[in-house]
Amino acid sequence: MISDLVRLFHLSDIHFGLEDREALAWVKREIAALRPDAVAITGDHTMRARHREWDAATAWITSLDVPVTISIGNHDMPYFNPVERFLTPYKRFEGMKALVERELLLPGLAIVPLKTVRRWQPRFNWSKGWVTHEALELCLAALDALPKGTRALVAVHHPLREVGTHGTALTRHGEQALAALAQRDVLGVLSGHVHDPFDIAEPTPEGEVRMIGAGTLSKRLRSTPPSFNEITWDGTALTVRARNLERVPTREMQIEDVPPNALPPRREDEPVAPVGRVPEVDPPVH
Ligand SMILES: [Fe+2]
Ligand SMILES: [Fe+2]
Repeated sequence: MISDLVRLFHLSDIHFGLEDREALAWVKREIAALRPDAVAITGDHTMRARHREWDAATAWITSLDVPVTISIGNHDMPYFNPVERFLTPYKRFEGMKALVERELLLPGLAIVPLKTVRRWQPRFNWSKGWVTHEALELCLAALDALPKGTRALVAVHHPLREVGTHGTALTRHGEQALAALAQRDVLGVLSGHVHDPFDIAEPTPEGEVRMIGAGTLSKRLRSTPPSFNEITWDGTALTVRARNLERVPTREMQIEDVPPNALPPRREDEPVAPVGRVPEVDPPVH
């Protein structure tokens, strides 16, 4: 049993290249003022994984003076260089390699990573998630190895939701992963990708799993203002508060369910990747 409150900031989808600088300055001030025990950033750190975008992401993230763990999102692997994407997909964030998919052990609470991106997928849309058998086994082994009595939050990029089963699943093998996490009694799964915050109890055959999504800190808004989640754990209850730049109460700014195509609309001024393109919109459903 722990006596102290553990405070965590859950950030996501900063998308350097289209980052919201006012929102980032505000988050940085909040981190300096509240000194959370950790910051978890659940992916999509850049727009197109350009070198300059990774340099900006690395400079901002490594300047945070608290423990940080980051997940890799579908926007974070090379877009314009298919050879690099296949051979060395993580090369561009060497500057903060130690933070990537890093397990964080806090008093009574652990953040355990689960990878949901792949450098390629045997389907048309590579922007969606995929939990491989190996990635799930790695996560489950990490959960099983936690000190006795330590509860866990699992950090992913894509929400572990299957919508349809034939080619359109938001995260392939997500249901299987959720059921396995339900068996481990995890406190919740922290995700990004949707650009809107949510806090949902997801049913699985093994019991419910809490799915917690953070909004975006970019200008790539979906339906809510730039935001992040402030999460507290008192040893009994996990409290999630979506915080944003505007005066909107948490409940009102949370979406009620994860949409089948959890992507913000494409902006007119966004460039389209010319080679090795990773499509971002759903193909027609056949
Ligand atoms: Fe995103
Ligand atoms: Fe994403």
